[in-house]
Amino acid sequence: MPEIQNPRQFVSWFRHSSPYINAFRGRVFVISFDGEAVMDEGFADLIHDIALLHSLGIRLILVHGGRPQIEQRLRERGATIEYRNGLRITDEAAIECVKEAAGAVRVQIEALLSMGLANSPMAGARIRVASGNLVTARPLGIHDGVDYKHTGVVRKIDVQAIQQRLDDNAIVLLSPIGYSPTGEVFNLSAAEVASSTAAAVKAEKLVSLVEAPGLRDSRKRLIRQLTIAEAESLLARKRKASGDLYTHLQHALNACRRGVRRAHIISRRTGGAVLLELFSRDGIGTMVTSDTYEGRQQATIDDVGGILALIEPLENKGILVKRSRELLEAEIDHFTLVKRDGAVIACAALYPFPQERAAELACLAVDPDYWGSGYAQSLLEHVERKALQQGIHRLFVLTTQTLHWFQERGFRVTEARQLPVKRQVLYNYQRKSKVWSNRCRPSPMSVATTQNALLTAPPSTRRAATGSCPRPGVCPLTGPAHPRRRWRSQLRRCCRCPG
Ligand code: ARG
Repeated sequence: MPEIQNPRQFVSWFRHSSPYINAFRGRVFVISFDGEAVMDEGFADLIHDIALLHSLGIRLILVHGGRPQIEQRLRERGATIEYRNGLRITDEAAIECVKEAAGAVRVQIEALLSMGLANSPMAGARIRVASGNLVTARPLGIHDGVDYKHTGVVRKIDVQAIQQRLDDNAIVLLSPIGYSPTGEVFNLSAAEVASSTAAAVKAEKLVSLVEAPGLRDSRKRLIRQLTIAEAESLLARKRKASGDLYTHLQHALNACRRGVRRAHIISRRTGGAVLLELFSRDGIGTMVTSDTYEGRQQATIDDVGGILALIEPLENKGILVKRSRELLEAEIDHFTLVKRDGAVIACAALYPFPQERAAELACLAVDPDYWGSGYAQSLLEHVERKALQQGIHRLFVLTTQTLHWFQERGFRVTEARQLPVKRQVLYNYQRKSKVWSNRCRPSPMSVATTQNALLTAPPSTRRAATGSCPRPGVCPLTGPAHPRRRWRSQLRRCCRCPG
């Protein structure tokens, strides 16, 4: 094993992956890869990573493709290669090539999985591979006058047989081939076989290794995760977009709709892509989820450990005041969290002083890995909304080191004696925190909604609907309500705000 260059990073990475190791044991993962991946010189590494997953107790079903292998055989025979709507028209010559290519690729994968070489990551591993007539298919038929011949679609997956082989501790290997009750053989899409199998066996995950790094948004940034609804709307917007990536997204979506918890689309070109995606919180590709991967929620007593882990480094640096476990347990109801895959990555607490119609925003913290991602801002907005609902008009914070952040968000310095009386008693003069105060204001979103609701209301109510402009430092009227200010919902700013 090569020398560990950065031991701390290694240890931290290993520790962070342990929740996943535990969560994945005994679960079924379907992993698909195309024929190009099999031809790549890095394929042995992928197989080693697959063997590692197997040794961690993950029940694996592999689905391989074979397009380049089929085409090579067709070319050798001088036969025509014909595609329509992204699907091969499989004539007699082509189905022979499909059978040959599938057989060759399967044997290659079985051989690699049988390798137990000393000094390789597979040393000592004895892996059994099981294949067979596990997929039943039917012909795709004739569409728009095109006869697809031996190209088929999945009709049924033999779930019981697959489960038996998995119970036997074997890795199930499926080719993109299906059999019919009349003894015919059909050429199938590997992506469809993988997605249908994942849904049929109720797999935990469908992992598709593709040529691209994942899906990108309109600004070419990698889309890291999508809910089912988001994936649906992305596909609806890209209705005309063809190409393998969207086909994979459609299959990922189908699998999630049919009960697979997470479907991952990752690059086969990145070394260790499977490990990076599965054993890190943020992954490296695009994930479609049917569960809540990330969300804001009210903290419960079970979150105390996570909050402590998040705030302790900040307490040690003196950014936050020390809080004991007992105190956190007693005050847990005041906390709102952002959780990502079960881990607390941001928190904020709201302590109301109802008599003064004021509240303290405290313990606003974000995991350093996620700094600059907007979590603090969204928690601040959430806490402001929550405060407004409780009839609170003034939010204050006590801070020593994050002055500018609050200043940029419209907080202004006030005296400690302007704190609610009960809070003044607790004020720690040694810490010399500055007190910043802000008028609670609805976020632009909620103002816009209220505005719409109030368009039909009498003028007196309408006046009340004017909100503070969310552009502190730019808008001359930001601050206390101004009688001449009107909210312009479409522009999301007030009538006096320049820009
Ligand atoms: N490792 C986790 C999992 O396998 C999370 C992966 C997150 N991936 C992403 N592309 N956002 O479920």
